[in-house]
Amino acid sequence: MLKETINGFTYGGDYNPEQWEKTYWEDDMRLMKKAQVNLVSIGIFSWARLQSKEGVYDFTWLDEILDLCHENGIFVDLATATASVPPWAYKDHPDIFPVDKQGNRLWYGSRQTYCPNSPSYHNLTKELVTTIVNRYKDHPALVMWHINNEYTCHVRECFCDTCAAEFRVWLKERYGTLDRLNGSWGTSFWSQWYHNWEDVMPPRQTTTQHNPGQVLDYQRFMSDSVLNCFMIEKKIIREMSPDIPITTNFMLDWKPLDYVKWAKEIDVISWDSYPNPATGVHPAKNAIDHDLMRGLADGKPFILMEQSPSQVNWRDINTVKYPGLNRLYSLQSIGHGSEGVMYFQWRQSRRGAEKFHSACITHTGDENSRVYKEVVEIGEELKAHTDISGSEVKNQVAIMYDYDNWWAVEYEPGPSCAVKYRDMILDYYTACYDANIGVDFVFQDSDISQYELVIAPLSYMVKPSMAESVKRFVASGGVFITSFFSGIVDEEDAVFENGYPGPLADILGISIEEFNPLESHMFNGITDALQSSKVTMWTELIRLKGAQAYASFTEDYLEGEPAVTCYDYEKGQSWYVGTRPEPTYLRRFLEKVCYDHGIEPVLKTPLGVEVTKRVDGENTWLFILNFNRDEMSIDLCGLSGLELLSGEEVSQKISIRAVSPMIIKLS
Ligand code: GLA
Ligand code: ZN
Repeated sequence: MLKETINGFTYGGDYNPEQWEKTYWEDDMRLMKKAQVNLVSIGIFSWARLQSKEGVYDFTWLDEILDLCHENGIFVDLATATASVPPWAYKDHPDIFPVDKQGNRLWYGSRQTYCPNSPSYHNLTKELVTTIVNRYKDHPALVMWHINNEYTCHVRECFCDTCAAEFRVWLKERYGTLDRLNGSWGTSFWSQWYHNWEDVMPPRQTTTQHNPGQVLDYQRFMSDSVLNCFMIEKKIIREMSPDIPITTNFMLDWKPLDYVKWAKEIDVISWDSYPNPATGVHPAKNAIDHDLMRGLADGKPFILMEQSPSQVNWRDINTVKYPGLNRLYSLQSIGHGSEGVMYFQWRQSRRGAEKFHSACITHTGDENSRVYKEVVEIGEELKAHTDISGSEVKNQVAIMYDYDNWWAVEYEPGPSCAVKYRDMILDYYTACYDANIGVDFVFQDSDISQYELVIAPLSYMVKPSMAESVKRFVASGGVFITSFFSGIVDEEDAVFENGYPGPLADILGISIEEFNPLESHMFNGITDALQSSKVTMWTELIRLKGAQAYASFTEDYLEGEPAVTCYDYEKGQSWYVGTRPEPTYLRRFLEKVCYDHGIEPVLKTPLGVEVTKRVDGENTWLFILNFNRDEMSIDLCGLSGLELLSGEEVSQKISIRAVSPMIIKLS
């Protein structure tokens, strides 16, 4: 595995030497070594420079650069180069072109222009991957295979005729008969009943709302189709290069792919983190995906595969990462369990669409830039603290995440288009984050018995596995929190018989009579024994069936009715939050639930100071990151240890400079 070759954290990034004359290469090596770079990803967008027509390759530059990396002690994460198809391939293989919902063909000239079900794309990638793997599988610089790149980043779905035919194959496998398909999709509605398989289509542009079952199955089918592209490559690599780990890079807040299903096929989970560096962006918005990736990795290593050393080029306005922020975000990834920090990209391009995207070596081309100096500083720090590598992050609280649920709950014609799954997940995640309560991510089929508290906001779709595991969890003493619009549909997106919250009704001790979503200018209020809050987005009429009202609505026709309920079910406890409270309310509410059940924050710090913990046997490291633009003081509450970045012993009250990190090895 990676760990056996690279002792410590990986550090480096995407390296695109084919964009540069060879005269730059030696200097790249020198500057990489100065920055303690030990891993580079090469060849991600190189297909057109490696192959000029079917069967004709030129690997000269790649041979040279791999040898050069090896001579300089830099390992390579070698891409399979399938992320962007060269222009020559389309002439004889028009099935490669992806087609959008409206039937428009998407042309090459950018990147990622391929239909995931295109037989020609599959065949050409098989030939390319076989050739690359065969040529480099024993190269001493190679430590990881990087399949493709950010799958679905630009082409999330394809609606071409090939995809239509493959969709029918996928549906036949899922449902067996047309009757089953008609039953599942409820096609008696709006005269949609299918009598012939060939009439079934992708949800192409139509007159008004699509059938929700069709839309949901198409999302599942697309995720599976793209996974099939990955599996085609993986199979080739595994057969020829069984010992080199495989990765593909995931993305932040990414809805099109069921990463839970994907993660099971990947050796090293990696992801690309691009938080908006403008001031005022909550760091929880980036931390959340580190925790999600750690959950997806399920005990395997995960790495931060890409981040920008400073600004990106793809927002409308691209501010820099102000001094210190790159260091904070790099150490944030480590604090959440990452085993490496990598950048996009090494040297800033002079041409092409990303020429104004930051890079480790900026357009000035020398080693005196602020950005490069920070890159060097971070490299040195990671190298100095390799003993942290391999340690673990373990928490008592978990948030449950599910892609089918995400797809289904955001089908637009529903009670409210304003309700977004990630927003709700982020509400609860941020509440825990601000309270310094560490969070793991779990999935509907995970074993959750090791946790004290499991939070599953907006669990609109409850699959049988979730219903059973949550029931078992609460019955045996766990604490469960869910929110409004939960327990509504089964995995076919059919509303549960006997109303809401469906199979969660027993453990929650409530039933929901009606929901009243609020328009953006509307609000209600809630109050409990400790606090009150304005609430927005959603209210509902909750009937108590054993549970107790913990907080009640204060306005309108719901005045005095339950808003937050609590139910002691067997040995455990279940909470239901029937509205969207303000962040402060939610944080205090979670602090109270955690306190009542003996769940401690890692440390109490002022807002904007993140604290996480990595543990390895006897050793504990606290990562304290001050994202505020002001110095902050922190009470270590009896803890003491060695602050590794300054080398100073710390105890009691300490101050942390603005936009600065500390790593304390506890004594
Ligand atoms: C993604 C891609 C990279 C690059 C960066 C720019 O992460 O994987 O190739 O385009 O975005 O931010
Ligand atoms: Zn297609």
